[in-house]
Amino acid sequence: MKILTLDDFDLKGKTVFVRMDMNCPIDPETNEILGTKRIEEAIETLESLKDSKVVIASHQGRVGNNEYTGMNKHAEVLEKLMNRKIKYVEDTIGEAAQNAIKNLEDGEILLLDNLRLCAEENYEFTPENAAKTIMVSRLSKLFDLCVLDSFPSAHRSHPSIVGFAQVLPACAGRIVEREVRNLDTIMTVAKAPHVIILGGSKVPDRLEAIKLLIQNGRADHVLLTGLIANVFMRAQARIKSPLGIKREEEIVAKAHSLIGEYPDVFATPVDVAIDKDGQRVEMDVREIEKEDKIFDLGPKTIEYYSKLISGAGTVFISGPAGFFEKENFKYGTTQMLTSVANSMATTIVSGGHLTTALKQQGLADKINHISTAGGALVLYLTGEKLSMMKALEDAAEKHRSK
Ligand code: 3PG
Repeated sequence: MKILTLDDFDLKGKTVFVRMDMNCPIDPETNEILGTKRIEEAIETLESLKDSKVVIASHQGRVGNNEYTGMNKHAEVLEKLMNRKIKYVEDTIGEAAQNAIKNLEDGEILLLDNLRLCAEENYEFTPENAAKTIMVSRLSKLFDLCVLDSFPSAHRSHPSIVGFAQVLPACAGRIVEREVRNLDTIMTVAKAPHVIILGGSKVPDRLEAIKLLIQNGRADHVLLTGLIANVFMRAQARIKSPLGIKREEEIVAKAHSLIGEYPDVFATPVDVAIDKDGQRVEMDVREIEKEDKIFDLGPKTIEYYSKLISGAGTVFISGPAGFFEKENFKYGTTQMLTSVANSMATTIVSGGHLTTALKQQGLADKINHISTAGGALVLYLTGEKLSMMKALEDAAEKHRSK
């Protein structure tokens, strides 16, 4: 490995900044954490740091969306899972956070509040400029080591991801170490045809990655689900009214040009499920009316997609197929996961929501690699260098040349 791991450092008595990704699915009505997989995953790294003073930093949601919350519930979940005290401070970089860090004893763990409360964490920086942010300048003085373990956000160049590694010794945590090792092994044995099933709501991220996946021979068929399927159906004029997403016209135009460029690659739904007065109603895509809100795939689409999945050499699925938090619209996501689990292909399941759904269905042991990362993993598969991996490689080079 080109990067350093926790095994390369003497960790005893050190104050360690650990960038985790505890961004979990949140119930839009109750604000409760719906799936704790990303919090569970953090434990291995925390156990390796049992003799250190540990400060966990993570984001949750995006400012203004309905998954944007504080981290108090995450602290409670971690405390239960580890059966030990987890300190929590309702602050990120201010005096309260700094004092809480300074007061830590060896073996204690402190969780900071949602990093995105700090404005800087919502912007992308070059590593050099990230190192100059107020967040990194204030906090880095308090640490001996930076551990980067937030693989799901490895494609973001936020200060906490690329800045600390500029000014502190830095290494990968156990999650990043495992992801990189497994994915590199899988990619060397991956066989065609490559079937990519893309869903979820982060459409602009996905559009950027799709082209690279196709160009790099990683996507022979792209089966579209979730909001991204709606965007493509709008580009095909099957959905007539606006979807109400940001920069919609530009995004739909991109989808339109992708279909034009690669007409044989994309598969879009042939039927869908809509919400009518709280009920699931299935219909052919030709019957979609302007006012219909599409929340899931229909059964004919599942059959169509499942045939393509059964003929695949490698299957990669990322993002839920519908509004799976709602009981009525879970069907597409659970059926897609069942088809992937039953296929003979090498299989990768990606993203916090799908990992949670897979666990609920008891299908996890039928999958070759499960990653709580979504967009970061899609980009990793394109062969693009992720910002966090670059930060870790640079830090390793600096460390070795000392
Ligand atoms: C994810 O869930 O994909 C990561 O936590 C990154 O979140 P972001 O897309 O809001 O940066």
